[in-house]
Amino acid sequence: MSSIPRRYHITTFGCQMNKADSERMAGILENMGFQFSEDPNQADLILYNTCSIRDNAEHKVYSYLGRQAKRKLQQPNLTLIVAGCVAQQEGEALLRRVPELDMVMGPQHANRLEDLLEQVFAGNQVVATEAVHIMEDITKPRRESQVTAWVNVIYGCNERCTYCIVPSVRGIEQSRTPEAIRTEMEELGRQGYKEVTLLGQNIDAYGRDLPGTTPEGRNLHTLTDLLYFVHDVPGIERIRFATSHPRYFTERLIRACQELPKVCEHFHIPFQSGDNEVLKAMARGYTHEKYRRIIDMIRHYMPDASISADAIVGFPGETEAQFENTLKLLEEISFDMLNTAAYSPRPGTPAAVWENQLSEEVKSDRLQRLNHLVSIKAAERSERYLGRIEEVLVEEQNAKDPTQVMGRTRGNRLTFFTGDINQLKGQLVQVKITESRAFSLSGEAISVPQPALV
Ligand code: SAH
Ligand code: SF4
Ligand code: F3S
Repeated sequence: MSSIPRRYHITTFGCQMNKADSERMAGILENMGFQFSEDPNQADLILYNTCSIRDNAEHKVYSYLGRQAKRKLQQPNLTLIVAGCVAQQEGEALLRRVPELDMVMGPQHANRLEDLLEQVFAGNQVVATEAVHIMEDITKPRRESQVTAWVNVIYGCNERCTYCIVPSVRGIEQSRTPEAIRTEMEELGRQGYKEVTLLGQNIDAYGRDLPGTTPEGRNLHTLTDLLYFVHDVPGIERIRFATSHPRYFTERLIRACQELPKVCEHFHIPFQSGDNEVLKAMARGYTHEKYRRIIDMIRHYMPDASISADAIVGFPGETEAQFENTLKLLEEISFDMLNTAAYSPRPGTPAAVWENQLSEEVKSDRLQRLNHLVSIKAAERSERYLGRIEEVLVEEQNAKDPTQVMGRTRGNRLTFFTGDINQLKGQLVQVKITESRAFSLSGEAISVPQPALV
C-alpha cells in the first residue's frame, strides 16, 4: 500500500522489561523497512511503550499522546500506537479516550507487532490485550547499546503484592527455554556484546512452568541451573540478573554467583518495607528478619557484593514507627543503591480501595527523608572503592566530558575515567578509583588495552 509509513519513533517508559520489549519491536519495524526517527514529529509511525506502575508514569503518556493525536488531524497517515502496561490496563477504554489511536497492544503482544500492523494498514483499529502464549521471537532486536544487552528469561508475574499492577498487565509467568536463552546469548557474543542482564519481574520463579524434575524431585529448570547452562557462552564476559524476590532467593543461587566468574557480584532484591505488619499487608511473604538473613548469607559468601533494592513509603496504614523501621533496615544493611517510591494506588489492586490511605504530604515527607538516607548510605558504600583497582566495562563517552569514558564496575557502580571512547568502547579496563560520590566513581586507567589489530 502506498500509504505505508516509513519512519518510526518509539518512546519507552517504565522498567527494563519495557525497554527490552521496545528493542524487539524496533527490530520488527526495521525488518519491515521502517527507519528510526529520533524526533517523533518527523515520524510516520509513533509507538509509546507505556508503564502504569505509578500514577505519574501513566499521566506522562496521556500528555505525550494528546500532542500526537492533534498532529494526526493534519496528517491522517500518521500511525499511532500505545503498547505496554497502560495499553493492557486500559484496553478499549483507551480508544474511547483517544479515538485517533490506531492500536492498543499489551506487552504479551510485542512479538506480534508485524501481524497486528498489517491489520492496522488494512484499515482496522486494533486492540490486542487478550492473554496469549508468548511466541519465541526470531527478529533481531534493535538494541540501544552495543556493549550490554537485556535477555528476557521469564515474562509475567504470579505474585499478588497488594499494591502492584504488574501481574494484571504482564499476565502469568512464562519462562523461555534454556536453549532459546542460550541461543540468543551466543548470537550476542558473536555480535561483540560483553555483558548480558537476564530479566524477569520475579526472576527466581524462572523455570517453574517448564516441564521436568531431577531424580530427587527438584525442578530441573531453576535460575541457578540456567546460570550454569549459559555461563560459558563465548564472548559474554559478564552476566547479571534482576529482579530477585526475597521469598524465593536461595543459598544455591548465591553459591553459583560465587562460583561462576562471569556472574557479577551484585544483587537487586527489593524489600519494599522494613516493617513486618506492612510486609504482611503487602502480601510479600517474608519478614524483615528473613530479608536480613538473606543479606547475611550473601555477605558470608561474598563479603564485598553490592546490594540494591526497591522500597515503598506511605503504604496504606503505614505509621511513623513503621516507616522508621524502613529507615532502620536501610541504616543497618547499608545498600549500595535503593530505588524509592511513594505509594501510588493502582486501579484494580487490593490496597487501592483500602480506607487507610495516607495523605500526599505524609508520603512525600517520608520519601524525602528516605532519599536523604539513601544518598548518605550510598556515599558510604562508594567510599570502599577508593584506592582499589576495579574492572570497568566501558559503555559510552561521558556525556558531560568528552575526554572521559563511562562504564560500570562489576558491582554496577557508574565509573568515569579519561580515555578515548573509540578505542575503549566494549573493553574491560582496570581502573584505579581516585574519587567517590554517592552514585558514581572516578578513576584512572592502569591497563589500557591495545587497539585491535586489523
Ligand atoms: N518485581 C519486582 C519489581 C516490580 S515493580 C519486585 O517484586 O520487587 C518495581 C518497583 O516499583 C517495585 O519494587 C516497587 O518498589 C515499586 N512499585 C510497584 N507498585 C507500586 C505502587 N503501587 N506504588 C509505588 N511504588 C510501586
Ligand atoms: Fe509486582 Fe510483587 Fe510481582 Fe514484583 S513480585 S511484579 S511487586 S506483584
Ligand atoms: Fe511499568 Fe509495566 Fe514495567 S507497569 S515497571 S513497564 S512491568
